[in-house]
Amino acid sequence: MTTIAHLSDLHFGRLDPPVASALLDDLHRKKPDWIVVSGDFTQRAKIREFRDAREFVARFPSRPLMVPGNHDIPAYPLWKRFLRPLHDFSRYLEPDSRPVLESGDVKIVGINTARPAGWYLDWSRGRVSASQLRFIFDEFGERSSGQLRVLVTHHPFLFPPLQETRHLAGGPKDTLETLAACGVDLILAGHFHRAWSDLVATRHPEVPSIVVAQASTSTSNRRKESDPNAYNWITCDLPHLHISSIEWRGEKFVESQSKSYCESSDHWNRVGDGRFTPS
Ligand SMILES: [Fe+2]
Ligand SMILES: [Fe+2]
Repeated sequence: MTTIAHLSDLHFGRLDPPVASALLDDLHRKKPDWIVVSGDFTQRAKIREFRDAREFVARFPSRPLMVPGNHDIPAYPLWKRFLRPLHDFSRYLEPDSRPVLESGDVKIVGINTARPAGWYLDWSRGRVSASQLRFIFDEFGERSSGQLRVLVTHHPFLFPPLQETRHLAGGPKDTLETLAACGVDLILAGHFHRAWSDLVATRHPEVPSIVVAQASTSTSNRRKESDPNAYNWITCDLPHLHISSIEWRGEKFVESQSKSYCESSDHWNRVGDGRFTPS
């Protein structure tokens, strides 16, 4: 069995210190096999925020896989946004723009979906390039059977319930079909600050082979109205996959909602009654 702690949207610059301290304690107590952080380490991509984030990450029980978010690209000075958008992220956090982790039964690939600009007004939205899709295909195409293939992005490819007002990464339906062809089983993302997991097939029946899990902001005070700080705890013992949201309850992190999935003939299916089940 493999365990993954999925953190997101730490947002140094808007940190809630007691929550961050409790998260570190949780990680050291539970000792996941892998730790993943899906972007937005900072609030304004300031050097001080990157330094604080690096110091925090260095206190994890193991080095995480990290991808940048839209907040990790500086808004100003403009020359830096356009000419060196990820310079500070790569200097302080992760120099590899396409990090990969692999163990016997899990392979995790990270890509950057944040862009400094685009032909649209909302520059916080994400994209996936053709070369990134080729990279994902190359990484997962040679997998041994029985390996869970996990893609980590900052921008999600599905909306959580009641939040269908923001942009997704790329043209989501086409991109999801391509990611399925690349062999992706599970996509881990953040950005919306809402913990949620489901089958892609609930929205796109033609993509039955992918599960998505999105994490809330794990440590910042940029919480949504009713969404507490949280991180995802994922256990995988193929063909079984279990995804729990571990939520901050004012004094400690507590498992609050979870979903189970099972894979059969390259199709993922829900196990249970179709609703979040309290622990
Ligand atoms: Fe964020
Ligand atoms: Fe974001």
